[in-house]
Amino acid sequence: MKLFKSYYVFSPALRIWHWVNFVAIAVLFVTGLYIGNPFFSGPHGKEATFATTMAFIRFLHFSAGYILLAAFLFRIATAPFNKGDRLVIPAFWREEFWQRFKATLEEYLLFKEHEPMIRNPLARTAYFFFYLLLVFMLLTGFSIYGLSNPGGFWDTLTGWVVWSLGGEFQARAWHHWVAWIIMLFFVVHLYFVVREDVFRRNGEVSSMVSGVKFFDREPVDADELKEEER
Ligand code: HEM
Repeated sequence: MKLFKSYYVFSPALRIWHWVNFVAIAVLFVTGLYIGNPFFSGPHGKEATFATTMAFIRFLHFSAGYILLAAFLFRIATAPFNKGDRLVIPAFWREEFWQRFKATLEEYLLFKEHEPMIRNPLARTAYFFFYLLLVFMLLTGFSIYGLSNPGGFWDTLTGWVVWSLGGEFQARAWHHWVAWIIMLFFVVHLYFVVREDVFRRNGEVSSMVSGVKFFDREPVDADELKEEER
């Protein structure tokens, strides 16, 4: 019988952010695709029910957009308080970060099992880029939103984004394609989370609910948690 030790990794703030993000992005993606292609509108511009009117769908999209923004600011504000939540940035210049990055790649590409890690550097790097995608969606989203109220708050704050992308058409096109990149990220993310749980039995899936992961050996990056959390 194997004995597993639990490690407290993710703070409640990070877990709340993760699931609020999940719901907000799901709503934004579905309503966004409908805004781009309102397939329920009839040939005369009639819409089937209230639930499919553009006004209502746009209301849902913008509400979820505000929730995404609030959640993002919450994440930034709470980031310094828990070591387990931390992103790649503090570890970027450590040699072992790149050794473990390579070890993770070798496991995925060559099936060469790596030492247990609480959070692998490949995933952390991917999350870093995911944050950039989120910032991009917030900036393009609020700048297009601001166009309907020229000189208003969002137009003043983010209007430059539309023009630096070449105009409204280009900004919307970028907003559309990056939405698909986020979906691609989601599919790959889900695959690797489930893979980790199946191969290592470490509670990877439930860790984003409980905050805890399980290991039968000391993970190589255990020093990244506070002593009392191990
Ligand atoms: C991950 C987050 C988001 C996703 C996946 C997403 C997705 C989309 C998509 C697919 C479209 C349709 C683009 C087209 O084909 O024309 C769209 C439109 C739009 N989105 Fe987003 N969006 C996100 C975040 C936001 C945010 C934060 C805002 C800010 C309020 C926003 C505001 C808008 C606006 C104003 C439009 C154009 C609506 C219109 O012209 O009626 N989006 N979004």
